[in-house]
Order: sequence, then C-alpha cells, then structure tokens
Amino acid sequence: MTKIYGHRGSKGNYPENTLLGFQKAIEQGVEGLEIDVHLTKDGEIVVIHDETLSRTTDGEGAIKDCTLAEIQQLSAGNKFQHFAKYESTWNQEKVPTLQEVMQLLDGTDIELNIELKTYIHTYPGIEERLLSEVQRYAPNRKIIYSSFHLPTLFRLKQLDSNADIAWLLQDHVPHLADYMTTFQLEGFHLDKDLMLDADVVMSKQLASYTRVWTVNKEEEINQLLQLGVEAIITDYPEIAVAAKQSI
Ligand code: G3P
Ligand code: CA
Repeated sequence: MTKIYGHRGSKGNYPENTLLGFQKAIEQGVEGLEIDVHLTKDGEIVVIHDETLSRTTDGEGAIKDCTLAEIQQLSAGNKFQHFAKYESTWNQEKVPTLQEVMQLLDGTDIELNIELKTYIHTYPGIEERLLSEVQRYAPNRKIIYSSFHLPTLFRLKQLDSNADIAWLLQDHVPHLADYMTTFQLEGFHLDKDLMLDADVVMSKQLASYTRVWTVNKEEEINQLLQLGVEAIITDYPEIAVAAKQSI
C-alpha cells in the first residue's frame, strides 16, 4: 500500500523543516517524513532546505559559513506569518539538527527520507557524518537517503552497503530500471510531472519502487494511489491521508 510522506514536514500548513512541522505531519497521519540536510561550518548536520538562511529564517548567509551556535540563534518560524494557521509561538522554532529530528521520531515507526543537497555544495565528509549520526540515534529506523547527485549516493553505498539510496529525478532518463541494479538503488524519487507524463510508462514493478514528489492535488494523489507507487510526498499530508483512507 502506498505510503504518505510529509514534504519538509507539512510544508503547506506549517514552517518547513521544523520540529513543529514534523510533529504536525505525524499528527496528520504520515507514514514518512522527507527532510533536507546541509553541513554547518563546524561540521554539524542541520535540517533546512536552502543552502542559505534568508528565505526560511531571519538570518542570512550560507549555512556552510555559519556555526551551529550561530544558526540556533535564528527563528525558523517567523517568515511564515502569512500562513493561515500562524501563531506567534512559531517564532520560537529553530533550525533543527538531524539529531533532534531523529529523537522526535523515537517511539514511532515513521520512515525518514533524508535528502542531501550535495549538488549545490560538496560538503566534504557529509556522507560519513550522516551515517554515523543515523547509526547512533536511529539504528533501527527505515532511512532512505536521496539525492539528485548520483556520486553522493554511490559514496554512501560504498561506506555502508546496507544504506537505502534513492535517486531523485526531474527529467526523463532512458533505461531507468538498469540504474537500479548498477547502483544498487533502493528506488527512485520522481517529480510528479515526470511520473504522470503519458510518455513515461513505468512498469508496475518499477512504480512500486518509486516515491513521487511533490503531489498536492487530490486528483494526482488518486492517480498515484492507483499506480501503486511506494510513496507520495506531499506538502498537504491531510489531503493525501484522506484520499488514501477513502479507497
Ligand atoms: O525529495 C523530493 C523533493 O523534496 C525535491 O525537491 O526542492 O523540494 O527539495 P525540493
Ligand atoms: Ca527535498
């Protein structure tokens, strides 16, 4: 049965990539969370989408040029005052560390998709650091590492042959199934327009290895539920969870 993943938490409703957003997505009934990670100047893994701070926090500059202590001074909530559900308590939300997210999930069986934004910066050592934090704080959780950058995934697999790696794709790649075996992929993470493109006809088996992003319209969610994809990654978990419950 197709799983529902919250994209950056519950991105359409709450500040993205925050503990508040992750908690709310869990309450909305997700079976997985999709998060983005970057490495700070002092080598800590933080959960934030952009390589810079200005869009989602009240700080500025590149994450690679800031220490964790500097980033933790910032609000990750007050840029979202235009959201319908906004409350002033959101201003206290911080950019979380990966460790904090994994600890939030303790006691749940929520799957965690960690996207490495390594096509922007190389972040030397991020793969080793990531694997060691997962081993320490979430050794039994289902973790899927995804990236647009195939060499990053290859490096993760070299470091840990048990790592589940999934390739993020936005454009058509011929002979997709061949990549599964060549790179020992756990699956693909496909853009929804690519997945629903009439010219990209995927076998039922390959669909079952595919998570699709970012799917927010009920009609598209229903199409993907019919196709039997592994997971739907959405900004609006409440819509996808309701659609799944109604089939
Ligand atoms: O993981 C799928 C999706 O999150 C990739 O795009 O820009 O939302 O990180 P983006
Ligand atoms: Ca992402």
